[in-house]
Amino acid sequence: DKLAVIIPAAGVGSRMQAQVPKQYIPLLGKPILVHTLEKLAKLDGVEQFMVAVSKEDSYFTTSLLPDSRFGHCDGGKERADSVLLALRALASSKPDWVLVHDAARPLVALEDIHHLIAKCVNEGQGGILAARVKDTIKCGAELVQKTVPRESLWQAFTPQMFKYEELLAALELGLAQGANITDEASAMELQKKPVQLIAARTDNIKITTPEDLPLAEFIIQQQGK
Ligand code: C5P
Repeated sequence: DKLAVIIPAAGVGSRMQAQVPKQYIPLLGKPILVHTLEKLAKLDGVEQFMVAVSKEDSYFTTSLLPDSRFGHCDGGKERADSVLLALRALASSKPDWVLVHDAARPLVALEDIHHLIAKCVNEGQGGILAARVKDTIKCGAELVQKTVPRESLWQAFTPQMFKYEELLAALELGLAQGANITDEASAMELQKKPVQLIAARTDNIKITTPEDLPLAEFIIQQQGK
């Protein structure tokens, strides 16, 4: 089975309130994007990597790409648009499977990615890394409307892995319908396709706000030990 990896990296990261787009903020001296790409480059059996980069991104250079398996393409307005453009950029190599991983998640454990890949290939079904919700979850605005039973609730992480053709069709249909698609799985769910939940480490955080930065640096130091 041919596997390609897509890295959506075309966000602006407005919640970070930083001078540079968040994927270029350094962690222990190295940009977040480079941490993520170097981690993914360690995966065996990947034919091609496609990084989606914003057209307005003046920080990107191909020298950030770890090796010759990596290419880049334009990103789009929303994350789902960026992933769709990256899928189309991979069309000529027709991978069987595609694994999508946020540039903003440099801390993912390779072991968890290997686990996800093995599960998807063995079952012949797509899946995502996820974790059971730990906190009590409230629904509301200024006041609590209700408490949501958490027994069946999961937090969706990336990577998310699906068959190339199925994800391409699901994203095209979902975006054409104007659906709110915040991850690959939600596009597949709209098409009534199964999505396996693969329990993963909870330190696979998406770096989003300033307080995530020292935490991420600490986790990287621990991982290096
Ligand atoms: O903004 P958020 O943190 O949810 O973005 C998740 C990932 O999707 C990030 O790696 C970001 O760069 C990427 N993204 C993208 N294109 C967009 C918006 C976000 O590739 N239009």
